[in-house]
Amino acid sequence: MTKKSGTVTQSRKLEHVNIVLNKQTQYKEKTTMLEYVQVIESGEKVSYKDVNLETELIGKRINAPVFVSGMTGGHSDVFDINKNIALAISKLGIPMGVGSQRAMIEDKSVTYTYDVKKFANDIILIGNIGITSLHNYSNGEIQNMLDAIDADMLAVHTNPAQESVQPEGSTDFRGLYERVIELAKGIKQPVVLKEVGNGISKEVAEKFDGKVYAIDVQGAGGTTWVGVETYRSKGEEGLAFWEWGIPTALSILETKSSFKGKVFASGGIRSPEDCINSLALGADICGMAKPVLVSVCKEGSEGLYLMLSNFIDEIKKKMAKLGFRNVNELKNARVLIKEPLSKIIKQRGIIVPSRFVLE
Ligand SMILES: Cc1cc2nc3c(=O)[nH]c(=O)nc-3n(C[C@H](O)[C@H](O)[C@H](O)COP(=O)(O)O)c2cc1C
Repeated sequence: MTKKSGTVTQSRKLEHVNIVLNKQTQYKEKTTMLEYVQVIESGEKVSYKDVNLETELIGKRINAPVFVSGMTGGHSDVFDINKNIALAISKLGIPMGVGSQRAMIEDKSVTYTYDVKKFANDIILIGNIGITSLHNYSNGEIQNMLDAIDADMLAVHTNPAQESVQPEGSTDFRGLYERVIELAKGIKQPVVLKEVGNGISKEVAEKFDGKVYAIDVQGAGGTTWVGVETYRSKGEEGLAFWEWGIPTALSILETKSSFKGKVFASGGIRSPEDCINSLALGADICGMAKPVLVSVCKEGSEGLYLMLSNFIDEIKKKMAKLGFRNVNELKNARVLIKEPLSKIIKQRGIIVPSRFVLE
């Protein structure tokens, strides 16, 4: 993709897309640890036709427990990405997020790059802002930003590891958790606290219990934003922290142990099994970023539609094999948690439901 003029925020959004598409931006050794989760079959015989993946978010029905994580917007060159994602997910009846909307607060002329409801007015659209931007913007400005694109929810991304490596990053996080809680009370849309691939701990989740609608764990094992910013920094600052973060499976368990709201499982979700294992750990819905970006940039909206509908269909087939008819049954499955994940859970003193067997 080419680079046109614009603010620093706008060109950063374009650089991010180009780096994720063209460079190695995944964790090298650390995994999501979802491979240490084994769902025990229910013992019931179920037909594929009996499996219904419908679930609910903010009181609205969605067709499958899958969504597209927020990625982009803010530059004319990325408009087609958001538009094509919206066209695909509207046919599937699942939610999508947009990337940080800071660029449109700074320059209203790029609002259209996030404004995808005109292509898919029936979707759940998740707006996005970085936690450090909350130092600078009032609740009213955030409300206007969400209303300008008719967003149904707001994801506030907390990304200390990314900011610490980002050349123009802001590392003053003082008072920001309290600011998110104040924001959640002051705007109409439900708020999701979201990481960007480094995971949420039980200590952080506990602070938000009863205060935000959901936590999107965005754990380690997929795209590393320390990695992405290391390319942008043109130095080697990020190499030491490339593998930093709480693996997604562990982060789901940490979050579930201290937060009663909805839990989104994301960060390194790459296969239908990853999604099934996350739901069995208690997550409500699974999100993907990089695989969606690659698919939509290569194959457009139709290719992304096929990729996601095959993904969802595979979840259905695998659930039928395991003997689960719906998401709720899967969320109550018996689960074997193998070492080393089981060992870390014990060391961290994480309370897990009695349906879990720890190796
Ligand atoms: C090109 C790109 C841009 C992203 N920009 C944002 C952003 O603006 N705000 C945000 O909360 N997360 C952003 N993310 C992070 C993703 O939402 C997600 O947390 C992360 O990539 C891990 O998911 P994955 O392993 O499926 O890629 C971006 C991801 C990609 C691939």
